[in-house]
Amino acid sequence: MCGIVGYAGKEQCADILIDALSKLEYRGYDSAGIAVFENGVIKTEKSKGKLADLKDKLAAENSKPEGCVGIGHTRWATHGEPSDVNSHPHGNANVTIVHNGIIENYKEIKDFLLKKGYNFDSETDTETVAKLLDYFYEGNPLETIIKVISEVRGSYALGILFKDFPDKIFAVRKESPLLIGLGKTSNFIASDMTALLKYTRNYYLLEANEIAVISSENVEIFDTHKNPVAKEVNVANWDADAAEKGGYEHFMLKEIHEQPTAIKTTISPRINAGMPYLEESGLNMEDLKKYRKIFIVACGTAMHAGIVGKYIIEKMARVEVTVDIASEFRYRDPILTSEDLVIVISQSGETADTLAALRLSKEAGAKTMAVVNVKGSSIAREADIVIYTHAGPEISVASTKAYTVQLSIMYLLAFELAYAKGRISKERCEQYIADFVKIPDIIEDVIKSSEKSCQFAASKLMNADSLLYIGRGLDYALSMEGSLKLKEISYIHSEAYAAGELKHGTISLVTSEMPVVAVATQSDLFEKTVSNIKEVKARGAKVTLICKESDNVDEDVADYLVKLPVIDDVFMPILASVPLQLIAYYTSVLKGCDVDKPRNLAKSVTVE
Ligand code: AGP
Repeated sequence: MCGIVGYAGKEQCADILIDALSKLEYRGYDSAGIAVFENGVIKTEKSKGKLADLKDKLAAENSKPEGCVGIGHTRWATHGEPSDVNSHPHGNANVTIVHNGIIENYKEIKDFLLKKGYNFDSETDTETVAKLLDYFYEGNPLETIIKVISEVRGSYALGILFKDFPDKIFAVRKESPLLIGLGKTSNFIASDMTALLKYTRNYYLLEANEIAVISSENVEIFDTHKNPVAKEVNVANWDADAAEKGGYEHFMLKEIHEQPTAIKTTISPRINAGMPYLEESGLNMEDLKKYRKIFIVACGTAMHAGIVGKYIIEKMARVEVTVDIASEFRYRDPILTSEDLVIVISQSGETADTLAALRLSKEAGAKTMAVVNVKGSSIAREADIVIYTHAGPEISVASTKAYTVQLSIMYLLAFELAYAKGRISKERCEQYIADFVKIPDIIEDVIKSSEKSCQFAASKLMNADSLLYIGRGLDYALSMEGSLKLKEISYIHSEAYAAGELKHGTISLVTSEMPVVAVATQSDLFEKTVSNIKEVKARGAKVTLICKESDNVDEDVADYLVKLPVIDDVFMPILASVPLQLIAYYTSVLKGCDVDKPRNLAKSVTVE
């Protein structure tokens, strides 16, 4: 989704703004622009396409703005197609803004302003906010912003330049993320800290409708009554390299390789004397035991982590778990009571539907817990209990390490709950933990050992128009993620299906033109899945099979094999996720797709 940056300092800022925007490219965008105070005048340059197109335009027209205060934006089109004119910044000579979010009542505002004689160049909702700021402005930016935010409905993070204040950026947010970076002789705004790691690690989180006034020397924050607000300085512990490719061809491959470390960092603080220990996150096991039901609510990959969570929590702790897609949950009028626990899972912590589901659950009186990767994100701030995953920044749109750390938390929760409810003994729980801590090293080996076979499998899948992923039980839960991974980055249609359900309709699709990826890592279901594989092979499908080293696979069962080390079946999804990620990655590479920034997708989905 859109990315915002801003700089107020002592250096020429056009290149700084573009560099910082480049760190937000992963969020997904289709146009970019900057506005800089040049000799007291706001100079705006923008272009459809990538940042490289903007840079080319600035070079070709020799139009790079000169000045030390400015704002920048990458736009992910919502209102109006990607075009030069719809790109941000928007405004006029008096006030110019960049915006992330959606203004729901922009039509009303536009009609009002048209009657007042304003003209509009773009189709965007953002331009109405810029012109409304201009309309209300009487010399005091703070008062103007307060008036405007009382009129607009929807979500917004705004970076604002007022012509009369050429040394300042103004900023305000509601729902959409925005933080204030604190440098020594410069200060910043940004949608997330990855944009600023090169310049500073210190930042303020801006709460809803707090207004920031930022100059090179000073940052002041006010509430909507113009009272100053004291803020706590946060320190980002991600280093600058974390947001760079570090020698890998793509962020996705780097992030696949980072999984052993990410899992270690996520689980180590949650293990105490050989037992799971989630209490440090504010979780009270006595309370947890009492919940009638657990709801897990999330989107995409995070929701798939929830499905694995459901299988293992129900199996081990015998607590009923329902998994919901957040965009459905929020409108399906779920039956929630104060006896329920709602777990939301989100890498970014800003996904609009997941955030709405969290709020709805709180209103209904349920206890809420967030499993989140981004510190200080909206979901993290609003949930009753937060368990942070420690994946570090995930830049590739296709989620990999965020998924395996989310799975890791699901495991710890299942073990701890199962033990607390007396479903497993202390010894069994300790054994699970002892096995779990070995997994990062095993994953390291799996990445190395399965790379070639995954490349080979990818070369066989890349020309397919459509694919099926099949599995049973935990393997089915994992297949959903494998299928999503492949389709989002290689643009090949694929569907995950419960292997035993194929014969109830879907098998009619199977021909020699439809390859099948089968996951069969669960000993008790292996033979049954093999029978389903034989059914698709009998219809001509070529099968890639992911199973354990110890499995005897007859020659006629699989065309391509990826074998995994043998560990407790319950942990196999976390191992098997690696070849599924690699198959998707290499298919995308072989097809020449934009691996890290697949078309139409955004990393952080901050609109409904
Ligand atoms: C998966 O690769 C996607 N990037 C997507 O499905 C993602 O998991 C989903 O949009 C949820 O994002 P979140 O974890 O930031 O809430």
